[in-house]
Amino acid sequence: MNFPPFRLLRWLEHYWKAGAVDVCTSNIEGYRFSEFGRQFDDMNLAVAYPFGEPSLRETLAKEYGVKSENVMVTVGASEANFLICMALYDKGERFIVENPAYEPLAEIPRGLGYGVDVLERRYEDGFRFDTAGLVELMKKGAKYAFICNPHNPTGIEMSEDDLRRIAEAAEEHDAYVLVDEIFKDVMKDPPPSAISISDRMIVTASISKVFSMAGLRLGWIVANSELMEKFESLREYTTVAVSSASEEMAKWAFERKDEILERARSYVNTNRPIVDAWLESSDLVEYNAESKTHFCFPRLNGIDDLEFGRTAAEKYNTIVGPGRFFGLPGHFRLGFGMNTEALQEGLANLTKALKDF
Ligand SMILES: Cc1ncc(COP(=O)(O)O)c(C=O)c1O
Repeated sequence: MNFPPFRLLRWLEHYWKAGAVDVCTSNIEGYRFSEFGRQFDDMNLAVAYPFGEPSLRETLAKEYGVKSENVMVTVGASEANFLICMALYDKGERFIVENPAYEPLAEIPRGLGYGVDVLERRYEDGFRFDTAGLVELMKKGAKYAFICNPHNPTGIEMSEDDLRRIAEAAEEHDAYVLVDEIFKDVMKDPPPSAISISDRMIVTASISKVFSMAGLRLGWIVANSELMEKFESLREYTTVAVSSASEEMAKWAFERKDEILERARSYVNTNRPIVDAWLESSDLVEYNAESKTHFCFPRLNGIDDLEFGRTAAEKYNTIVGPGRFFGLPGHFRLGFGMNTEALQEGLANLTKALKDF
């Protein structure tokens, strides 16, 4: 095993400490504890359920149209993604990863020792997913693939037809596809989950993003029973269980799902035109792709992404995500799920940073 440092996280950590305005984040403006309006006086803190509190598992199972034994509650989507790759690991197997990508989705398979095949999303194609390329790699023997839908950092959505073609290829070549759907429900008309298309798909997600509750560290895996057995065996040796307090709050969140999604989408709908106008306002930045989420991945014209990121953070107190941390220098991730005043402040600072180049 050989894991490189998680560069984006270290970058964020470093500048968060300095109290900078964060317009890199893929989170939606957070909730405050007081907004829960819930008492936990009766909670028995000795209780922890290895694969998830039963009624939360049941709720998640209903969301996905599966049985509760096909759901495991995890410590965020982070644990879910790691656990799956680790549990499926077999020496010599090949894993398809995307580039650009949210770092762990490429580095976990690589770090664990899978042979990695890289599938590029090209800016010139609007960062479209290369379905034909994936099918070709499966024909050549790749056994697993990691897809993020909608995609981080570009915000691009895959069509249901593409997912069906991928599922067919997975069935034909005895392969499995891990689909990270952590951002799906922020979309106006979210597509059906990949798990409803084929049991060759393994789905992960969490309440970190669209539910704005990243601090609770609560996510999940949805998978067929045979795979779930493997994930459960490994889970018994890792974190044992998720925090039961987080599970209680997640149950609260699902009771209010519609209201919470409405809130998230209203940030996105208000902020997206502001970001579009900002992108139009300078020749030094452009984005010719259509983000369906609350972040995008603009191109910098003639500016180094790391230098831009450093200037923005160190001179103008504003964090963006340099493209090289997602595998594509010359771009940067720009998040816009935060409150509108903070976004406007961040964009005004980025305008100043651009003027320095
Ligand atoms: C695609 C993707 N998956 C997983 C995660 C981690 O999510 P969690 O906070 O649920 O561990 C992130 C966080 O940014 C992400 O972008």
